[in-house]
Amino acid sequence: AKITLSASDGKRISDLMMGIFFEDINYAADGGLYAELIQNRGFEYNMGERRGDKSWNNTKAWIVNGDQGTLTVDTLAPIHPNNKHYAVLNITGTGAGIINEGFDGIPVKAGEKYDFSVFARSPESKRGKLLVRLIGKNGEVCGETSTKSISGDWQKYTVVLTANKTINDARIEIIPQQTGRVDLDMVSLFPQKTFKGHQNGLRADLAQVIADMKPRFVRFPGGCVAHGDGLDNMYRWKNTIGLLETRKPQRNLWGYHQSMGLGYFEYFQFCEDIGAEPVPVLAAGVPCQNSGHNECRIAGQQGGIPMSQMDEYIQEILDLIEYANGDVKTEWGSKRAKAGHPAPFNLKYIGIGNEDLITDIFEERFTMIYNAIKKKYPEMVVIGTAGPFYEGTDYVEGWKIAAKLGVEMIDEHYYNPPGWYIHNQDFYDKYDRSKAKVYLGEYAAHLPGRPNNVETALAEAFHLANIERNGDIVAMTSYAPLLAKENHTQWNPDLIYFNNTEVKPTVGYYVQKLYGENSGNEYLPSKIEFSTDWDAVTKRIAKSIVRDDKTGDIIVKLINLLPKEVNITLDLNGIDNLKPLAVKTVLSGKPDDKQAKPVQETIDISTVSTCKLPAYSFTVIRIQTK
Ligand code: AHR
Repeated sequence: AKITLSASDGKRISDLMMGIFFEDINYAADGGLYAELIQNRGFEYNMGERRGDKSWNNTKAWIVNGDQGTLTVDTLAPIHPNNKHYAVLNITGTGAGIINEGFDGIPVKAGEKYDFSVFARSPESKRGKLLVRLIGKNGEVCGETSTKSISGDWQKYTVVLTANKTINDARIEIIPQQTGRVDLDMVSLFPQKTFKGHQNGLRADLAQVIADMKPRFVRFPGGCVAHGDGLDNMYRWKNTIGLLETRKPQRNLWGYHQSMGLGYFEYFQFCEDIGAEPVPVLAAGVPCQNSGHNECRIAGQQGGIPMSQMDEYIQEILDLIEYANGDVKTEWGSKRAKAGHPAPFNLKYIGIGNEDLITDIFEERFTMIYNAIKKKYPEMVVIGTAGPFYEGTDYVEGWKIAAKLGVEMIDEHYYNPPGWYIHNQDFYDKYDRSKAKVYLGEYAAHLPGRPNNVETALAEAFHLANIERNGDIVAMTSYAPLLAKENHTQWNPDLIYFNNTEVKPTVGYYVQKLYGENSGNEYLPSKIEFSTDWDAVTKRIAKSIVRDDKTGDIIVKLINLLPKEVNITLDLNGIDNLKPLAVKTVLSGKPDDKQAKPVQETIDISTVSTCKLPAYSFTVIRIQTK
């Protein structure tokens, strides 16, 4: 095939194209990106009446050691009403205590330091210290220290534990050095080495792999987690800020628990750390009504937030904008400053609604929220939703509402088989440029069995090439979901799998990373001529050529979905000042290969004009002109 470039006919495209979708699904937050090592630190686990593992209760992940102590949970006099439950230990013989198993064990490294903290009190007249030990499977001690003697009222105790051994499945044991009653709550253990060294921070290796994708924005906290599976399960941002012991944990609709330790402040901080725009998504006053989701059927019957409470709900959303951007003298800006960030977070985008069914209940509430935000913050880009499917009435109605209100951007979601991406290459070519821009907030290629392999990854690379051509109408994209903890998945495929000690990026991850590293802000049109007009060939090669203004680099992306190598002649017509060396990266493998990784080489510019695309491959050629 021959590709001829028209370098002078470029068009501006979005420079926010590649972002990430973070949802607390598959243990992405607690037990995942959030570096807390203690599971159920606040004794708040409770699955309630609805979904989830009914065996979960407030002592999940905790046991008593030996037979000289008992563990119960009380709510009579908590540290804070948001965090109602606490542990009550009754000790008849010194040496008894409680043990936490962590999330599949607690991984510790020899010589590394861990911040331990706990709230404790005891009504006894003789009160002692708390002995804190890291122990291995057979009880061997791999680190120990003590707090000072505890007092009669709730008080926080902090100590540093140093591990003397590397062990992936340690547990932590807390042994009061006294008998009688001891109350404990908010038992916490953090590695001192978190991402960027923040306290209450993120797991460094996992956060780094995400940062390496060079995402231009981070959408959070979902997904369905954002609107919840009932009015009582909506993600309410105010419950997630401030001192950890005052945050309000809740049941996660994916069947586990959200401690809210990774809350809005931490999300904003992560965005800042990795140079990404924050894109919070809040419920449009309705919980998940998607009857296609078993989880959400009950919520669908609940309708939306009662009209009598909508003003308060809208104020909550306006307060979020003040929290992110307001001056330190404002009510909510001052809370951000108190958390350690006096400078604003520069929030520019806010999503309202997550693939909601577009009903009257939705429209009424969305309209109220949209108008209120635009009135107070006209510069804020409000992202609406096109419902759960890319076709059907919700999609049509979602777009109609957007047109009626003048919404600037619409969030679309779809998960399709690889063939769909081949047959719908012109999907966005057909979009009306005078209407709202698109945020493709969730998408992935799905095959039976839901693998993430070369076939799915190349379908996504293919779609992204077609999206770059439409980068004047598609402003942002994010693959979904992002993270999944091995053996704890509710959804496959995901982009990055992990366990307590390893991070395992998928083939799809490398596609996202290559696009993130090689995005541009100008699309350069080009023509492709084939020696055949056979669809089976011509529809299986995609190309996109962009220029990045900042570096002056020209980036050529070529995807070959054919089972054989293809020769390409590349005519870089009109590009001046080509530097002698270019960088070529190729990702290829058999369609069912789950281990393929990109291979990079520096090539002579003279070889760019005749290149070979391996069978089933994604090739990126980065050419310098400055
Ligand atoms: O990405 C996983 C789920 O898929 C999201 O929570 C939801 O928005 C969509 O249905």
